[in-house]
Amino acid sequence: MNQDQLKQLVGEAARDEVLKLPAGQILGIGTGSTANCFIDALSAHKTHFLGTVSSSNATTERLLKHGFKVLDPNEVDQLPAYVDGADEIDPAGHMIKGGGGALTREKIIASMANRFICICDSSKQVPVLGSFALPVEIIPLYKGIVARELAKLGGMVTLRMAKETRTDLGQTSSQPFVTDNDGWILDVAGLKIADPIALEMQINQIAGVITVGLFAKEKANILLVSNAFGVSRITF
Ligand code: 5RP
Repeated sequence: MNQDQLKQLVGEAARDEVLKLPAGQILGIGTGSTANCFIDALSAHKTHFLGTVSSSNATTERLLKHGFKVLDPNEVDQLPAYVDGADEIDPAGHMIKGGGGALTREKIIASMANRFICICDSSKQVPVLGSFALPVEIIPLYKGIVARELAKLGGMVTLRMAKETRTDLGQTSSQPFVTDNDGWILDVAGLKIADPIALEMQINQIAGVITVGLFAKEKANILLVSNAFGVSRITF
């Protein structure tokens, strides 16, 4: 089974998981290719839910295309569940997220939910977080100051760039990747994150940081993870 098939498999398992919720509730929905598989799998059952709350512009677009109702999170008190992928997940359910750049809204919507249901294939399971460069969304104006503070953690800090585009004159142009909140992303490579809760708090204290892609406080409560043999359900 290739990775796309594994994502589809776990997306279908997540559909079956959320259909166990009583009808008429509002569901939080994440961002990325695995979350997309979940949205596609759930679309035939959209009337089971009163509506959804989305974690990015890309997810909102996909949800609307499928005919889901997308609600303003400010108008919603709480969510029974939030379903999203991850870039890495450790044995305690702590995650690195933000590979797709949607970490801030993902963390806000996750904080509204009673349960975080993480969906991924088994390549995302790691003993210790940090092989995947840690995304940190920042205020662009203070890029240098925040980058210097992040470098003190011992990793290598890189400004995330958007895909190169070709200009009218045929030259390639490279611009920083801009988030849905008009932030930029610094990726910190080479960290071995032994204490995700402490590091999340430490990075949150750096002035100029909008959100760190460590989901330790908002960790997963349920993990649905696929491999060639099927999908396992792990609770934390
Ligand atoms: C986006 C995320 C995604 O959940 C994460 O990057 C995993 O994406 P994919 O399912 O495409 O592997 O955090 O900000």
